[in-house]
Amino acid sequence: MRRLLLSLLALSALAACKKQDQGSGAPAANANGPIVIGEVGSMTGTEATFGLSSANGIQLAIDELNSKGGVKGRQLQVKVLDDQGRPEEAATAATRLISSEHVIALLGEVASTRSMFMAPKAQQAKVPMVTPSSTNPAVTQKGDYIFRACFIDPFQGYVAATFAMGNLKVKKVAVLKDVRNDYSVGLAKNFIDSFTKTGGQIVAQESYSNGDVDFKAQLTNIKGAAPQALYVPGYYTDVGLIARQARETGITVPLLGGDGWDSEKLYEIGGEAIVGSYFSNHYSPDDPSPRIQEFVGKYKKAYGGQTPDSLAAQAYDAAGMLADAMKRAKDLTGPSIRDALAATKAYPGVTGNITLDENRNPLKPAVVLKVGKSGKYEFVTKIYPEGMQPETGSGGDAAPGTKTGSNTAPASGTTPTQTTTPPVGATSSASSAANTGQPQGVPSAEHPKK
Ligand code: PHE
Repeated sequence: MRRLLLSLLALSALAACKKQDQGSGAPAANANGPIVIGEVGSMTGTEATFGLSSANGIQLAIDELNSKGGVKGRQLQVKVLDDQGRPEEAATAATRLISSEHVIALLGEVASTRSMFMAPKAQQAKVPMVTPSSTNPAVTQKGDYIFRACFIDPFQGYVAATFAMGNLKVKKVAVLKDVRNDYSVGLAKNFIDSFTKTGGQIVAQESYSNGDVDFKAQLTNIKGAAPQALYVPGYYTDVGLIARQARETGITVPLLGGDGWDSEKLYEIGGEAIVGSYFSNHYSPDDPSPRIQEFVGKYKKAYGGQTPDSLAAQAYDAAGMLADAMKRAKDLTGPSIRDALAATKAYPGVTGNITLDENRNPLKPAVVLKVGKSGKYEFVTKIYPEGMQPETGSGGDAAPGTKTGSNTAPASGTTPTQTTTPPVGATSSASSAANTGQPQGVPSAEHPKK
């Protein structure tokens, strides 16, 4: 809590000097002073928990790094700017951090659309940017200074399709997407591609726009199509409302979704209507792996017992991955940090080992969580990209015990990333046969066990 307050203070201080600080063009802080990193996030607005959790995760990582001597003998400092959940504000914040605060790197955004607004600013200024959790493939395609610490949506869509078919045994699904959100549009497509490829049928496709409050017309159409599940790849505020109205409309089947559901607010908004639904995510805080439990413990201690959501974990990893690159970089110029980031191999993140491919994306496993009683997320299964082995031993990837049975999803043919190599067969987890990894995609890099 204390750290969050500090971050927010930094944020309002920055907002206060907003008017006078444009484009000073002064050189970055002196070579012995703190290394300043910029962070852009939605600290307010309908996706505020995304920004707040990410800021917590980043600050935890930075405090730890500083207590161990920082990077190249210098302490690290984070400047956070709130974009209020607005794409244009994310771009403005990135520009301000670059030209006025002289940050040497940027962390953020979470939402893919906002990352896509930030990225050109970072690219143009040759300031490396690492998005912790933006999963739309187009984000890192904005340029060679743009990196991510998370998996991408072709895989996430595959995970949901695989789970729907294999675990829930549903064949007919309806899709309701947010047309003003690149993440939602992309993930809907990725899900549909994977689901139909394995014989599933999309019985209805409807859309809404972020911020809408009445979804009755779409839900009535969906009900008429009699789906066995409803895929809603949106953000938590909209999804909570959609869940309520779906039940009011008489839709009783489970809702399915992606990482955008991850917020303590999902249940606050959706209530009982969201219980019994499932979503794909980056990690489960219940995972018994030592790496995850150590992180969860440290986070709870720092933030008054709060359990870290996946945004906090991803942000912690993104900050750690950036600092690791800065340590390896020959100097702290943008191009040198960029090159070091691009060479990231087996960085031991909480959410999995990170090896970046030539498109600056890592290959990582995903989990499926069920919204249980009182909104508590229950781990269901963990799905690995094709060819990736669960990390065992001292590493961070042993999956928690399953609660709903094994993942029997078909493995063949669904290769969202690229398909030059035949599937190597399902991998099995250290702790349970139910955590079987399903082949998917083709890793372009080795993931050594750590
Ligand atoms: N993956 C989402 C996007 O790209 C953002 C997100 C990540 C939201 C993790 C919640 C949790 O827009």
